[in-house]
Amino acid sequence: MKAMKVVAILAALMLSVQAFASQFLIEHKFSEAANNDSKVMVVFAAEDQTVALESWSSATQTMVTTALNAKEFAGKHGQMVEVLAPTGLTAERLVVVGVGAAEAFNRVKAEQVGAKLLSSLPSDSAVVLNASLINDAAAVAAIAHGMDLKNYRFDRYKSDAKDRETVAYHWQVADDSEAQQHYAEFQAIAKGVFLSRDIINLPGGDGYPQAIAEMASKALKPLGIKVTVLNPEQVRKAGMGALYGVSKGSEHKAYLLAAHWEGSNDQPIALVGKGNTFDTGGYNLKTSSSSILRMQTDKAGGGAVLGAVMALAGQKAPVNVVAVVPLSHNLISGSALLPGDVVTAGDGTKVEVANTDAEGRLILADGIWYARDKFKPRAIADIATLTGSKVGALGTAYSAVFTEHDDLLATMKQAGEATDELVWQLPLGPYPGIISSTLADIKNVGSPGAQAGAVFLQHFAKDTPWIHIDMAGNAYNAGASGIHPAGGNGYGVRLLTEWVKLYSNQAN
Ligand code: BES
Ligand code: MN
Ligand code: ZN
Repeated sequence: MKAMKVVAILAALMLSVQAFASQFLIEHKFSEAANNDSKVMVVFAAEDQTVALESWSSATQTMVTTALNAKEFAGKHGQMVEVLAPTGLTAERLVVVGVGAAEAFNRVKAEQVGAKLLSSLPSDSAVVLNASLINDAAAVAAIAHGMDLKNYRFDRYKSDAKDRETVAYHWQVADDSEAQQHYAEFQAIAKGVFLSRDIINLPGGDGYPQAIAEMASKALKPLGIKVTVLNPEQVRKAGMGALYGVSKGSEHKAYLLAAHWEGSNDQPIALVGKGNTFDTGGYNLKTSSSSILRMQTDKAGGGAVLGAVMALAGQKAPVNVVAVVPLSHNLISGSALLPGDVVTAGDGTKVEVANTDAEGRLILADGIWYARDKFKPRAIADIATLTGSKVGALGTAYSAVFTEHDDLLATMKQAGEATDELVWQLPLGPYPGIISSTLADIKNVGSPGAQAGAVFLQHFAKDTPWIHIDMAGNAYNAGASGIHPAGGNGYGVRLLTEWVKLYSNQAN
Protein backbone atom coordinates (compact mmCIF):
# COMPACT_ATOMS: atom_id res chain seq x y z
CA MET A 1 0.00 0.00 0.00
CA LYS A 2 2.74 2.38 1.07
CA ALA A 3 4.90 1.40 -1.89
CA MET A 4 2.03 2.01 -4.27
CA LYS A 5 1.56 5.48 -2.92
CA VAL A 6 5.21 6.32 -3.56
CA VAL A 7 4.93 5.01 -7.09
CA ALA A 8 1.84 7.10 -7.69
CA ILE A 9 3.57 10.25 -6.46
CA LEU A 10 6.57 9.54 -8.65
CA ALA A 11 4.36 9.05 -11.66
CA ALA A 12 2.60 12.33 -10.98
CA LEU A 13 5.92 14.15 -10.71
CA MET A 14 7.13 12.70 -13.97
CA LEU A 15 3.93 13.71 -15.68
CA SER A 16 4.28 17.29 -14.56
CA VAL A 17 7.76 17.46 -16.05
CA GLN A 18 6.74 15.71 -19.23
CA ALA A 19 3.70 17.89 -19.80
CA PHE A 20 5.70 20.58 -21.53
CA ALA A 21 8.38 18.49 -23.19
CA SER A 22 9.12 19.83 -26.65
CA GLN A 23 6.46 18.70 -28.99
CA PHE A 24 7.50 17.42 -32.36
CA LEU A 25 4.31 17.46 -34.29
CA ILE A 26 5.24 17.19 -37.92
CA GLU A 27 6.27 13.92 -39.44
CA HIS A 28 7.98 14.52 -42.78
CA LYS A 29 7.92 11.50 -45.07
CA PHE A 30 10.18 11.54 -48.11
CA SER A 31 9.47 9.36 -51.08
CA GLU A 32 10.25 9.21 -54.77
CA ALA A 33 6.74 8.08 -55.63
CA ALA A 34 3.66 10.27 -55.89
CA ASN A 35 1.04 10.19 -53.15
CA ASN A 36 -2.40 10.44 -54.66
CA ASP A 37 -4.74 10.74 -51.72
CA SER A 38 -3.78 14.26 -50.79
CA LYS A 39 -6.14 17.22 -50.42
CA VAL A 40 -3.41 19.76 -51.03
CA MET A 41 -0.48 19.65 -53.36
CA VAL A 42 2.43 22.04 -53.00
CA VAL A 43 4.91 22.77 -55.76
CA PHE A 44 8.10 24.78 -55.30
CA ALA A 45 9.46 26.88 -58.15
CA ALA A 46 12.53 29.04 -58.58
CA GLU A 47 12.50 32.47 -60.22
CA ASP A 48 11.75 32.35 -63.95
CA GLN A 49 11.31 28.60 -63.84
CA THR A 50 8.39 27.12 -65.74
CA VAL A 51 6.02 25.44 -63.35
CA ALA A 52 5.30 22.17 -65.07
CA LEU A 53 5.17 18.62 -63.80
CA GLU A 54 5.40 15.60 -66.08
CA SER A 55 2.37 14.06 -64.46
CA TRP A 56 0.10 16.96 -65.45
CA SER A 57 -2.21 16.71 -68.42
CA SER A 58 -2.17 19.58 -70.89
CA ALA A 59 -5.52 20.80 -69.51
CA THR A 60 -4.08 20.95 -65.99
CA GLN A 61 -0.96 22.63 -67.27
CA THR A 62 -2.99 25.31 -69.06
CA MET A 63 -5.10 25.99 -66.00
CA VAL A 64 -2.08 26.29 -63.73
CA THR A 65 -0.17 28.52 -66.14
CA THR A 66 -3.19 30.82 -66.57
CA ALA A 67 -3.68 31.13 -62.82
CA LEU A 68 0.02 31.83 -62.23
CA ASN A 69 0.08 34.49 -64.96
CA ALA A 70 -3.05 36.12 -63.58
CA LYS A 71 -1.41 36.42 -60.15
CA GLU A 72 1.89 37.56 -61.70
CA PHE A 73 3.71 34.66 -60.15
CA ALA A 74 7.42 35.01 -60.88
CA GLY A 75 8.88 32.55 -58.40
CA LYS A 76 10.02 35.34 -56.07
CA HIS A 77 11.20 34.14 -52.67
CA GLY A 78 8.15 33.52 -50.48
CA GLN A 79 5.60 34.28 -53.19
CA MET A 80 2.60 31.93 -52.98
CA VAL A 81 -0.29 31.33 -55.35
CA GLU A 82 -3.18 29.01 -54.63
CA VAL A 83 -5.14 27.31 -57.39
CA LEU A 84 -8.45 25.77 -56.31
CA ALA A 85 -9.56 22.40 -57.68
CA PRO A 86 -7.15 22.15 -60.61
CA THR A 87 -8.53 20.07 -63.48
CA GLY A 88 -7.52 16.46 -63.34
CA LEU A 89 -5.68 16.60 -60.02
CA THR A 90 -6.97 14.53 -57.13
CA ALA A 91 -5.90 17.34 -54.80
CA GLU A 92 -8.48 20.04 -54.09
CA ARG A 93 -5.89 22.77 -53.86
CA LEU A 94 -2.57 23.43 -55.50
CA VAL A 95 -0.17 25.82 -53.79
CA VAL A 96 2.74 27.10 -55.85
CA VAL A 97 5.58 28.52 -53.76
CA GLY A 98 8.41 30.69 -55.08
CA VAL A 99 11.90 30.03 -53.73
CA GLY A 100 13.63 32.98 -55.43
CA ALA A 101 16.70 32.87 -57.67
CA ALA A 102 17.92 29.28 -57.95
CA GLU A 103 21.59 30.20 -57.47
CA ALA A 104 20.81 32.23 -54.32
CA PHE A 105 18.68 29.51 -52.72
CA ASN A 106 20.35 28.38 -49.52
CA ARG A 107 19.57 26.98 -46.09
CA VAL A 108 18.31 30.26 -44.63
CA LYS A 109 16.08 31.04 -47.62
CA ALA A 110 14.73 27.48 -47.57
CA GLU A 111 13.89 27.64 -43.85
CA GLN A 112 12.05 30.92 -44.39
CA VAL A 113 10.03 29.45 -47.25
CA GLY A 114 9.06 26.48 -45.08
CA ALA A 115 7.97 28.71 -42.20
CA LYS A 116 5.89 30.89 -44.49
CA LEU A 117 4.27 27.94 -46.20
CA LEU A 118 3.28 26.26 -42.93
CA SER A 119 0.65 28.86 -42.13
CA SER A 120 -1.25 28.14 -45.33
CA LEU A 121 -1.34 24.38 -44.97
CA PRO A 122 -4.16 22.47 -43.31
CA SER A 123 -3.02 20.61 -40.24
CA ASP A 124 -5.61 17.91 -40.47
CA SER A 125 -5.45 16.55 -44.00
CA ALA A 126 -2.89 15.00 -46.24
CA VAL A 127 -0.48 17.23 -48.09
CA VAL A 128 1.99 16.33 -50.78
CA LEU A 129 4.92 18.65 -51.12
CA ASN A 130 6.31 18.12 -54.54
CA ALA A 131 9.89 19.26 -54.53
CA SER A 132 10.78 17.84 -57.91
CA LEU A 133 11.52 21.32 -59.23
CA ILE A 134 14.34 21.60 -56.66
CA ASN A 135 17.24 19.21 -57.19
CA ASP A 136 19.02 19.89 -53.95
CA ALA A 137 18.05 17.40 -51.21
CA ALA A 138 19.64 19.58 -48.51
CA ALA A 139 17.47 22.53 -49.56
CA VAL A 140 14.33 20.39 -49.51
CA ALA A 141 15.22 19.18 -46.02
CA ALA A 142 15.81 22.78 -44.94
CA ILE A 143 12.30 23.74 -46.08
CA ALA A 144 10.91 20.94 -43.90
CA HIS A 145 13.11 22.18 -41.05
CA GLY A 146 11.71 25.71 -41.40
CA MET A 147 8.22 24.26 -41.03
CA ASP A 148 9.26 22.41 -37.88
CA LEU A 149 10.87 25.48 -36.31
CA LYS A 150 7.74 27.53 -36.93
CA ASN A 151 5.45 24.81 -35.62
CA TYR A 152 6.75 24.93 -32.02
CA ARG A 153 4.31 26.02 -29.31
CA PHE A 154 4.81 26.64 -25.61
CA ASP A 155 1.34 25.99 -24.22
CA ARG A 156 2.03 24.73 -20.73
CA TYR A 157 0.09 27.65 -19.26
CA LYS A 158 -2.89 27.53 -21.64
CA SER A 159 -5.84 25.83 -19.98
CA ASP A 160 -7.43 25.15 -23.34
CA ALA A 161 -4.29 23.67 -24.87
CA LYS A 162 -5.55 20.57 -26.60
CA ASP A 163 -3.21 17.82 -27.50
CA ARG A 164 -2.16 18.81 -30.95
CA GLU A 165 -2.08 15.92 -33.33
CA THR A 166 0.94 14.90 -35.28
CA VAL A 167 0.56 15.89 -38.92
CA ALA A 168 2.23 13.87 -41.65
CA TYR A 169 3.47 15.66 -44.75
CA HIS A 170 4.50 13.63 -47.76
CA TRP A 171 7.40 14.91 -49.79
CA GLN A 172 7.89 13.72 -53.31
CA VAL A 173 11.60 14.15 -53.99
CA ALA A 174 14.23 13.06 -56.51
CA ASP A 175 16.26 11.08 -53.96
CA ASP A 176 14.37 10.09 -50.83
CA SER A 177 17.23 8.65 -48.81
CA GLU A 178 19.37 11.71 -49.40
CA ALA A 179 16.53 14.02 -48.36
CA GLN A 180 15.85 11.88 -45.29
CA GLN A 181 19.51 11.98 -44.29
CA HIS A 182 19.70 15.76 -44.49
CA TYR A 183 16.38 16.08 -42.70
CA ALA A 184 17.59 13.92 -39.79
CA GLU A 185 20.48 16.38 -39.24
CA PHE A 186 18.06 19.29 -39.24
CA GLN A 187 15.66 17.50 -36.91
CA ALA A 188 18.45 17.15 -34.36
CA ILE A 189 18.94 20.92 -34.59
CA ALA A 190 15.20 21.54 -34.18
CA LYS A 191 15.18 19.44 -31.01
CA GLY A 192 18.02 21.56 -29.64
CA VAL A 193 16.15 24.75 -30.56
CA PHE A 194 13.02 23.43 -28.85
CA LEU A 195 14.91 22.63 -25.65
CA SER A 196 16.33 26.13 -25.67
CA ARG A 197 12.92 27.71 -26.26
CA ASP A 198 11.41 25.61 -23.45
CA ILE A 199 14.17 26.81 -21.13
CA ILE A 200 13.74 30.47 -22.10
CA ASN A 201 9.94 30.40 -21.93
CA LEU A 202 9.66 28.91 -18.46
CA PRO A 203 8.73 31.74 -16.04
CA GLY A 204 11.14 32.64 -13.26
CA GLY A 205 8.90 31.23 -10.52
CA ASP A 206 8.85 27.74 -12.04
CA GLY A 207 12.13 27.78 -13.92
CA TYR A 208 14.57 28.30 -11.05
CA PRO A 209 18.11 26.86 -11.13
CA GLN A 210 17.32 23.36 -9.84
CA ALA A 211 14.29 23.01 -12.12
CA ILE A 212 16.30 23.98 -15.20
CA ALA A 213 19.14 21.62 -14.22
CA GLU A 214 16.67 18.74 -13.92
CA MET A 215 14.82 19.58 -17.10
CA ALA A 216 18.05 19.79 -19.10
CA SER A 217 19.52 16.60 -17.61
CA LYS A 218 16.39 14.73 -18.54
CA ALA A 219 16.52 15.94 -22.15
CA LEU A 220 20.25 15.40 -22.65
CA LYS A 221 21.15 12.14 -20.92
CA PRO A 222 19.25 9.85 -23.34
CA LEU A 223 21.45 11.14 -26.18
CA GLY A 224 24.66 9.85 -24.60
CA ILE A 225 25.62 13.27 -23.23
CA LYS A 226 27.48 13.12 -19.94
CA VAL A 227 25.70 15.46 -17.55
CA THR A 228 27.24 16.75 -14.32
CA VAL A 229 25.10 18.77 -11.90
CA LEU A 230 26.64 20.67 -9.02
CA ASN A 231 24.19 21.54 -6.27
CA PRO A 232 24.47 24.77 -4.24
CA GLU A 233 26.68 23.19 -1.58
CA GLN A 234 29.02 21.83 -4.23
CA VAL A 235 29.12 25.20 -5.99
CA ARG A 236 30.07 26.89 -2.73
CA LYS A 237 32.61 24.27 -1.70
CA ALA A 238 34.28 24.43 -5.12
CA GLY A 239 34.97 28.09 -4.36
CA MET A 240 32.64 29.61 -6.94
CA GLY A 241 31.75 32.57 -4.74
CA ALA A 242 30.73 34.80 -7.65
CA LEU A 243 28.14 32.31 -8.92
CA TYR A 244 27.01 31.45 -5.41
CA GLY A 245 26.71 35.11 -4.42
CA VAL A 246 24.20 36.04 -7.12
CA SER A 247 21.63 33.54 -5.78
CA LYS A 248 22.23 34.20 -2.09
CA GLY A 249 19.07 36.29 -1.78
CA SER A 250 16.82 33.61 -3.26
CA GLU A 251 15.52 30.44 -1.67
CA HIS A 252 16.63 28.87 -4.95
CA LYS A 253 20.40 28.78 -4.70
CA ALA A 254 22.96 28.38 -7.46
CA TYR A 255 23.55 25.26 -9.54
CA LEU A 256 26.06 24.48 -12.23
CA LEU A 257 25.41 22.14 -15.12
CA ALA A 258 28.00 20.64 -17.46
CA ALA A 259 26.86 18.67 -20.52
CA HIS A 260 29.65 16.90 -22.38
CA TRP A 261 29.31 15.37 -25.85
CA GLU A 262 32.48 13.44 -26.61
CA GLY A 263 32.05 12.69 -30.30
CA SER A 264 35.80 12.79 -30.92
CA ASN A 265 39.10 12.58 -29.05
CA ASP A 266 40.06 16.17 -29.84
CA GLN A 267 40.70 18.61 -27.05
CA PRO A 268 37.21 19.88 -26.11
CA ILE A 269 35.57 23.11 -27.19
CA ALA A 270 33.71 24.74 -24.28
CA LEU A 271 30.45 26.66 -24.63
CA VAL A 272 29.59 28.64 -21.52
CA GLY A 273 26.04 30.04 -21.33
CA LYS A 274 24.51 32.50 -18.88
CA GLY A 275 21.75 30.73 -16.97
CA ASN A 276 20.35 33.50 -14.79
CA THR A 277 16.86 32.11 -14.32
CA PHE A 278 15.43 35.48 -13.33
CA ASP A 279 16.99 38.92 -13.15
CA THR A 280 15.36 41.33 -10.73
CA GLY A 281 18.61 43.29 -10.70
CA GLY A 282 19.11 42.44 -7.02
CA TYR A 283 19.38 45.48 -4.72
CA ASN A 284 20.17 47.50 -7.85
CA LEU A 285 16.58 46.62 -8.59
CA LYS A 286 15.13 46.92 -12.07
CA THR A 287 12.54 49.52 -11.13
CA SER A 288 10.61 50.04 -14.34
CA SER A 289 7.99 47.43 -15.18
CA SER A 290 9.32 47.10 -18.71
CA SER A 291 12.89 46.45 -17.58
CA ILE A 292 12.01 43.64 -15.15
CA LEU A 293 9.29 41.98 -17.23
CA ARG A 294 10.52 38.98 -19.25
CA MET A 295 13.72 38.66 -17.26
CA GLN A 296 13.08 34.91 -17.24
CA THR A 297 14.73 35.14 -20.68
CA ASP A 298 18.01 35.87 -18.90
CA LYS A 299 18.79 32.15 -19.09
CA ALA A 300 18.79 32.19 -22.90
CA GLY A 301 22.57 31.86 -23.17
CA GLY A 302 22.33 28.68 -21.11
CA GLY A 303 19.51 27.48 -23.35
CA ALA A 304 21.65 28.19 -26.41
CA VAL A 305 24.65 26.13 -25.30
CA LEU A 306 22.53 23.23 -24.05
CA GLY A 307 20.50 23.24 -27.26
CA ALA A 308 23.69 23.24 -29.34
CA VAL A 309 25.16 20.28 -27.47
CA MET A 310 21.82 18.47 -27.80
CA ALA A 311 21.85 19.12 -31.57
CA LEU A 312 25.45 17.96 -32.00
CA ALA A 313 24.81 14.80 -29.98
CA GLY A 314 21.59 14.17 -31.92
CA GLN A 315 23.62 14.37 -35.11
CA LYS A 316 26.35 12.18 -33.61
CA ALA A 317 28.73 14.91 -34.77
CA PRO A 318 32.43 13.97 -34.54
CA VAL A 319 33.24 16.83 -32.18
CA ASN A 320 34.25 17.09 -28.55
CA VAL A 321 32.12 19.81 -26.97
CA VAL A 322 31.04 20.69 -23.47
CA ALA A 323 28.32 23.12 -22.42
CA VAL A 324 28.77 24.72 -19.01
CA VAL A 325 25.82 26.58 -17.53
CA PRO A 326 26.03 28.49 -14.26
CA LEU A 327 22.44 28.75 -12.97
CA SER A 328 21.39 31.57 -10.68
CA HIS A 329 18.29 33.40 -9.48
CA ASN A 330 19.09 37.09 -8.97
CA LEU A 331 16.58 37.99 -6.24
CA ILE A 332 16.53 40.18 -3.13
CA SER A 333 16.07 39.38 0.56
CA GLY A 334 17.92 39.85 3.84
CA SER A 335 20.65 37.54 2.60
CA ALA A 336 21.17 38.96 -0.88
CA LEU A 337 24.40 40.51 -2.12
CA LEU A 338 24.68 44.22 -1.39
CA PRO A 339 26.15 46.77 -3.77
CA GLY A 340 29.80 47.10 -2.78
CA ASP A 341 30.13 43.56 -1.42
CA VAL A 342 33.18 41.57 -2.44
CA VAL A 343 32.95 38.00 -3.74
CA THR A 344 35.79 35.60 -4.45
CA ALA A 345 35.55 33.75 -7.74
CA GLY A 346 36.71 30.19 -8.38
CA ASP A 347 40.09 31.33 -9.68
CA GLY A 348 40.68 33.39 -6.53
CA THR A 349 39.92 36.80 -8.06
CA LYS A 350 38.28 39.16 -5.57
CA VAL A 351 35.49 41.06 -7.26
CA GLU A 352 33.83 44.23 -6.02
CA VAL A 353 30.14 43.88 -6.82
CA ALA A 354 29.65 47.56 -7.60
CA ASN A 355 26.27 46.75 -9.16
CA THR A 356 24.19 43.69 -8.29
CA ASP A 357 22.45 43.97 -11.67
CA ALA A 358 25.71 43.12 -13.45
CA GLU A 359 25.20 39.53 -12.27
CA GLY A 360 25.70 37.77 -15.60
CA ARG A 361 29.43 38.34 -15.69
CA LEU A 362 29.72 37.14 -12.08
CA ILE A 363 28.17 33.77 -12.79
CA LEU A 364 29.98 33.46 -16.15
CA ALA A 365 33.31 34.18 -14.45
CA ASP A 366 32.85 30.98 -12.46
CA GLY A 367 31.39 29.12 -15.45
CA ILE A 368 34.48 29.99 -17.50
CA TRP A 369 36.77 29.09 -14.61
CA TYR A 370 35.02 25.72 -14.18
CA ALA A 371 35.24 25.00 -17.93
CA ARG A 372 38.99 25.75 -17.98
CA ASP A 373 39.73 23.92 -14.75
CA LYS A 374 37.80 20.73 -15.51
CA PHE A 375 37.94 20.42 -19.30
CA LYS A 376 41.14 22.23 -20.42
CA PRO A 377 39.36 23.39 -23.58
CA ARG A 378 41.17 24.44 -26.77
CA ALA A 379 38.72 27.33 -27.07
CA ILE A 380 35.83 28.88 -25.17
CA ALA A 381 32.78 30.63 -26.58
CA ASP A 382 30.55 32.22 -23.97
CA ILE A 383 27.08 33.51 -24.77
CA ALA A 384 24.89 35.70 -22.59
CA THR A 385 22.05 38.19 -22.43
CA LEU A 386 24.62 40.45 -20.82
CA THR A 387 24.08 44.16 -21.37
CA GLY A 388 21.46 46.72 -22.31
CA SER A 389 24.39 48.64 -23.75
CA LYS A 390 24.75 46.01 -26.49
CA VAL A 391 21.08 46.47 -27.46
CA GLY A 392 21.73 50.21 -27.73
CA ALA A 393 24.75 49.67 -29.95
CA LEU A 394 23.52 46.94 -32.31
CA GLY A 395 19.81 46.38 -31.71
CA THR A 396 18.32 42.91 -31.69
CA ALA A 397 19.09 41.40 -35.10
CA TYR A 398 22.84 41.10 -34.48
CA SER A 399 24.59 39.90 -31.39
CA ALA A 400 27.91 41.47 -30.41
CA VAL A 401 31.11 39.42 -30.46
CA PHE A 402 34.35 40.25 -28.72
CA THR A 403 37.60 38.37 -29.28
CA GLU A 404 41.28 38.76 -30.00
CA HIS A 405 41.38 35.61 -32.12
CA ASP A 406 40.87 36.00 -35.85
CA ASP A 407 40.03 32.34 -36.41
CA LEU A 408 37.31 32.44 -33.74
CA LEU A 409 35.86 35.58 -35.27
CA ALA A 410 35.98 34.32 -38.86
CA THR A 411 34.32 30.99 -38.06
CA MET A 412 31.68 32.67 -35.87
CA LYS A 413 30.82 35.14 -38.64
CA GLN A 414 30.60 32.31 -41.15
CA ALA A 415 28.34 30.31 -38.83
CA GLY A 416 26.18 33.40 -38.29
CA GLU A 417 25.65 33.92 -41.99
CA ALA A 418 24.92 30.24 -42.61
CA THR A 419 22.19 30.24 -39.95
CA ASP A 420 20.93 33.83 -40.09
CA GLU A 421 21.98 34.30 -36.46
CA LEU A 422 24.19 37.24 -37.26
CA VAL A 423 27.11 38.54 -35.22
CA TRP A 424 29.00 41.84 -35.33
CA GLN A 425 32.35 42.53 -33.73
CA LEU A 426 32.81 45.22 -31.08
CA PRO A 427 36.20 46.10 -29.64
CA LEU A 428 37.63 44.79 -26.37
CA GLY A 429 38.67 47.69 -24.22
CA PRO A 430 41.92 48.39 -22.43
CA TYR A 431 42.38 45.71 -19.82
CA PRO A 432 41.94 46.00 -16.89
CA GLY A 433 41.45 49.79 -17.14
CA ILE A 434 37.67 49.99 -17.32
CA ILE A 435 37.05 47.41 -14.60
CA SER A 436 39.81 48.33 -12.13
CA SER A 437 38.70 48.60 -8.52
CA THR A 438 40.14 50.59 -5.63
CA LEU A 439 38.66 48.13 -3.14
CA ALA A 440 39.28 44.67 -4.64
CA ASP A 441 41.09 43.15 -7.66
CA ILE A 442 38.48 44.17 -10.23
CA LYS A 443 34.91 45.47 -10.17
CA ASN A 444 31.91 44.19 -12.12
CA VAL A 445 30.98 47.39 -13.97
CA GLY A 446 32.63 49.93 -16.23
CA SER A 447 32.08 52.01 -19.31
CA PRO A 448 31.25 51.49 -22.13
CA GLY A 449 28.88 48.86 -20.78
CA ALA A 450 29.03 46.01 -23.28
CA GLN A 451 32.79 46.36 -23.52
CA ALA A 452 33.24 46.35 -19.74
CA GLY A 453 31.25 43.10 -19.53
CA ALA A 454 33.49 41.56 -22.18
CA VAL A 455 36.74 42.73 -20.59
CA PHE A 456 35.56 41.37 -17.25
CA LEU A 457 35.06 37.92 -18.78
CA GLN A 458 38.39 38.13 -20.60
CA HIS A 459 40.05 38.26 -17.18
CA PHE A 460 38.72 34.76 -16.45
CA ALA A 461 39.38 33.25 -19.88
CA LYS A 462 43.09 34.05 -19.38
CA ASP A 463 45.22 32.40 -22.08
CA THR A 464 42.50 30.10 -23.47
CA PRO A 465 41.40 31.30 -26.95
CA TRP A 466 38.06 32.91 -26.21
CA ILE A 467 35.15 34.66 -27.87
CA HIS A 468 32.28 36.37 -26.05
CA ILE A 469 28.80 36.73 -27.54
CA ASP A 470 26.50 39.34 -26.02
CA MET A 471 23.02 38.27 -27.16
CA ALA A 472 20.98 40.73 -25.07
CA GLY A 473 17.75 41.47 -26.93
CA ASN A 474 18.14 38.55 -29.36
CA ALA A 475 16.41 35.85 -27.31
CA TYR A 476 12.76 36.73 -27.45
CA ASN A 477 10.16 37.64 -30.08
CA ALA A 478 7.03 39.40 -28.81
CA GLY A 479 5.14 38.10 -31.85
CA ALA A 480 5.68 35.35 -34.39
CA SER A 481 8.25 36.26 -37.00
CA GLY A 482 9.87 34.22 -39.78
CA ILE A 483 10.88 30.77 -38.50
CA HIS A 484 9.98 31.69 -34.93
CA PRO A 485 6.66 31.57 -33.10
CA ALA A 486 6.12 34.18 -30.37
CA GLY A 487 8.31 33.82 -27.28
CA GLY A 488 11.82 32.47 -26.77
CA ASN A 489 13.36 31.86 -30.16
CA GLY A 490 16.35 29.69 -29.34
CA TYR A 491 18.84 32.19 -30.72
CA GLY A 492 22.35 30.78 -30.60
CA VAL A 493 21.53 27.07 -30.94
CA ARG A 494 21.83 27.05 -34.72
CA LEU A 495 24.77 29.48 -34.61
CA LEU A 496 26.80 27.45 -32.11
CA THR A 497 25.94 24.07 -33.63
CA GLU A 498 27.36 25.33 -36.91
CA TRP A 499 30.29 27.09 -35.28
CA VAL A 500 31.48 24.09 -33.28
CA LYS A 501 31.67 22.06 -36.49
CA LEU A 502 33.47 24.81 -38.42
CA TYR A 503 35.96 25.48 -35.65
CA SER A 504 36.47 21.79 -34.94
CA ASN A 505 37.45 21.20 -38.54
CA GLN A 506 40.28 23.66 -38.24
CA ALA A 507 43.71 22.38 -37.31
CA ASN A 508 44.19 22.01 -33.57
N1 BES B 1 20.15 40.66 -18.10
C1 BES B 1 20.58 42.01 -18.16
C2 BES B 1 20.84 42.49 -19.57
C3 BES B 1 19.65 42.61 -20.48
C4 BES B 1 19.04 43.82 -20.65
C5 BES B 1 19.19 41.53 -21.20
C6 BES B 1 17.96 43.94 -21.52
C7 BES B 1 18.12 41.63 -22.04
C8 BES B 1 17.51 42.84 -22.21
C9 BES B 1 21.88 42.18 -17.37
O1 BES B 1 22.04 41.34 -16.28
C10 BES B 1 21.87 43.57 -16.82
O2 BES B 1 21.08 43.85 -15.99
N2 BES B 1 22.81 44.36 -17.29
C11 BES B 1 22.96 45.70 -16.83
C12 BES B 1 24.41 45.90 -16.48
C13 BES B 1 24.70 47.19 -15.79
C14 BES B 1 24.12 47.21 -14.41
C15 BES B 1 26.20 47.38 -15.72
C16 BES B 1 22.55 46.63 -17.96
O3 BES B 1 22.91 46.36 -19.11
O4 BES B 1 21.86 47.60 -17.69
MN1 MN C 1 21.20 42.15 -14.48
ZN1 ZN D 1 21.00 39.57 -16.34
